[in-house]
Amino acid sequence: MPQPPSPIAFIDLKVQAARVRARIDARFAQVLDHGAYINGPEVAELEAALCGFTGAAKALAVANGTDALIIPMMAMGLKPRDAVFIPAFTYNATANAVILAAATPVFCDVRGRDFNLDPEDLDRRIAAVTAEGRLTPKLILAVDLFGIAADYEAIFAVAEKHGLPVMADAAQSFGARWNGRWAGNIAAVTSTSFFPAKALGCYGDGGAILFRDPALHEACESVRWHGTDAARKESVRVGMNGRLDSLQCAVVTEKLSIFSDELEARRRVAAIYDARLAGAVDAVAFGAGVESGWGLYTVAVDRRDAVQAALRDDGVPTAIYYPQPLHRMRAFAHLAPEGGLPQSERLAGRVLSLPMHPYLSEAQTEYVAERVLAAVR
Ligand SMILES: Cc1ncc(COP(=O)(O)O)c(C=O)c1O
Repeated sequence: MPQPPSPIAFIDLKVQAARVRARIDARFAQVLDHGAYINGPEVAELEAALCGFTGAAKALAVANGTDALIIPMMAMGLKPRDAVFIPAFTYNATANAVILAAATPVFCDVRGRDFNLDPEDLDRRIAAVTAEGRLTPKLILAVDLFGIAADYEAIFAVAEKHGLPVMADAAQSFGARWNGRWAGNIAAVTSTSFFPAKALGCYGDGGAILFRDPALHEACESVRWHGTDAARKESVRVGMNGRLDSLQCAVVTEKLSIFSDELEARRRVAAIYDARLAGAVDAVAFGAGVESGWGLYTVAVDRRDAVQAALRDDGVPTAIYYPQPLHRMRAFAHLAPEGGLPQSERLAGRVLSLPMHPYLSEAQTEYVAERVLAAVR
């Protein structure tokens, strides 16, 4: 059996950790010295750095990417009969967050070509919910799956037609761009995750809310701190403990300083995969103006289990995100639309994510591509 030039990790956090270790050690020492573990100066520093990178007007560091979704929806004051339109092919957190924020998710299909929310299906489902009258359409929550910005051109047009706001779940897409705008500065409000395996991760759980439109910023800041007023004396709304601690903020700030360099490296890996695998697998196709952050590199293949097993034997780790669309999962099956969601169901049976991180060598990347070609043949 062929073996890689050197062991291949699906996501390698160790090389990066060695690269930033001395700086993070120094940062940790600073936090231990000043002792402000919660709400220390590192929080505002990270928020400013995130705005600086993405161009967002405001940012809030929060405890994880799920809270980054829940907090803005709580700030919007959603109610159980309010419909939030989400793709069915995403991580379960997207649907959980809608339900935890007291609203009702309405599952929409995705497109085969970019695996993201299908604007035409979205349009139809908003119209159907409006016509039925049981739920009130309130929000479109687009997801940038695998690092690829959703089709915001078309989604914004549908949103405008129906008079709905758009929020973005960019948990997987920090570093993506749409029409020159970075994820975080595309929709009015964007959530992201700093889960360690994300393109920009911390050493634990973390996340952020980014505001292109700062209208909800103050309310989100209040929800993040138990719904208190600015003086933190009185609860003015229902809130939660959604803060990100000073240590994690320091980690993300340090990692953000090498992010552009890492993004370039991810792009080089993706370019090799794109060139070598063209025609052999169903690669993601996205329109002009969209740049992936390459959080993951995912293709669709026939005989997926056999392909995955062959790659495992050849020393190539892969992962399946996601083996089931949300409307097929027990927790959400009662929300499944009649007739199902064909593209989401089909993709769940065919997607396969290949090793993707900034520290894959050219030789390793070429080896992965070569073994994929052999496995799908
Ligand atoms: C699309 C999507 N949304 C939300 C989340 C939730 O982020 P977290 O795990 O930081 O809560 C994730 C995390 O994987 C995700 O992939």
